[in-house]
Amino acid sequence: MRKRILTGIKPTGYAHIGNYFGAIKPAIELSKNPDYDCYYFIADYHALTTLNNKEEMKEYFYNIACTWLACGLDPKKVVFYRQSDIKEDFELNWILCNVTPKGLMNRAHAYKAIVERNEEQGIDRDDGVNMGLYNYPILMAADILLFDTDLVPVGLDQKQHIEIARDIAHNFNGKYGKCLKEPCDYIDKNNHTLVGLDGRKMSKSYNNTIRLFTDEATLKKSIFRVVTDSRLPGEPKDADCTVNKLFKLFATKEEADKFEQDLLNGLGWGDAKKQLFEVANRFISPMREKFDYYMEHKEEVDKILKEGALKAEKVAKEVLARVRKAIGTDR
Ligand code: ADP
Ligand code: TRP
Repeated sequence: MRKRILTGIKPTGYAHIGNYFGAIKPAIELSKNPDYDCYYFIADYHALTTLNNKEEMKEYFYNIACTWLACGLDPKKVVFYRQSDIKEDFELNWILCNVTPKGLMNRAHAYKAIVERNEEQGIDRDDGVNMGLYNYPILMAADILLFDTDLVPVGLDQKQHIEIARDIAHNFNGKYGKCLKEPCDYIDKNNHTLVGLDGRKMSKSYNNTIRLFTDEATLKKSIFRVVTDSRLPGEPKDADCTVNKLFKLFATKEEADKFEQDLLNGLGWGDAKKQLFEVANRFISPMREKFDYYMEHKEEVDKILKEGALKAEKVAKEVLARVRKAIGTDR
């Protein structure tokens, strides 16, 4: 049986190397397996929960779309589309709201984190929470369940969302009989959450990222901002430091072994960062050329996404028809 793979990234900022190693690279690798049908999309309506500026929406949308293409997404092999083009998604979203206990949403990590922060600050627990944010996991479940998805490649931080999608599918099937496929996450065991410039998780929301596609000078500047301890040149460094972790991602095994040894032998942070920039830039450069090409040919990107949406819509209509039949709104 062919397996269906689906994943999305929301355009809430510029794609960074955490997105690349955590989500994009593993998803592109999966798409090379002929036994998999892949559906990758840009979750623009998920971005609305935090983004409310039309220029930023467009800017980040094309940044993420061109990133996928530059990183090797082949539109002949992958159905590549924009979430907001698939109207069926929003119909399924509403249907799923009705089999989702409110308590399940109260336990979602992103919402819980805001409530905890608000409580610490002594302000209303729901301050700054809109219903889009609160219901975020239900729309994500709709994204996934609408395509009979088997596997969802994501970074570790998204694991709970996939579990919620499974729970929602399970609830639906419990009420209406077996109809929706219960998906699984696909999280690469060797793939750890990348740490950002300030030592927290690298995230668009924390403004602590190393952008995947910028000019060389900006890439260098970001790399020189990676936090380090205050050990001087000549003093042995910790192999567990961020600079070493990042170096490993871009370098060959031999280069990485030598770099780690040099750090243990007291390589200075300045030199270490210079070497990190060199391997990172070598890795990113060929993709950057493609990225720049697509950014200058947005009409090609639009065409690819439109064709993808037509293919995605076909599947979405079939699954939604099955759901409507199960709940009795068919005719
Ligand atoms: P961000 O936190 O920057 O807004 P998203 O939530 O849009 O990123 O995540 C898009 C994908 O990239 C998800 O699959 C997520 O797990 C992955 N991802 C995001 N940040 C990291 C990170 N620091 N390390 C590994 N994977 C990440
Ligand atoms: N919530 C995901 C993120 O922040 C983005 C996303 C939306 C997604 N819908 C999805 C990921 C469906 C996988 C499947 O990264």
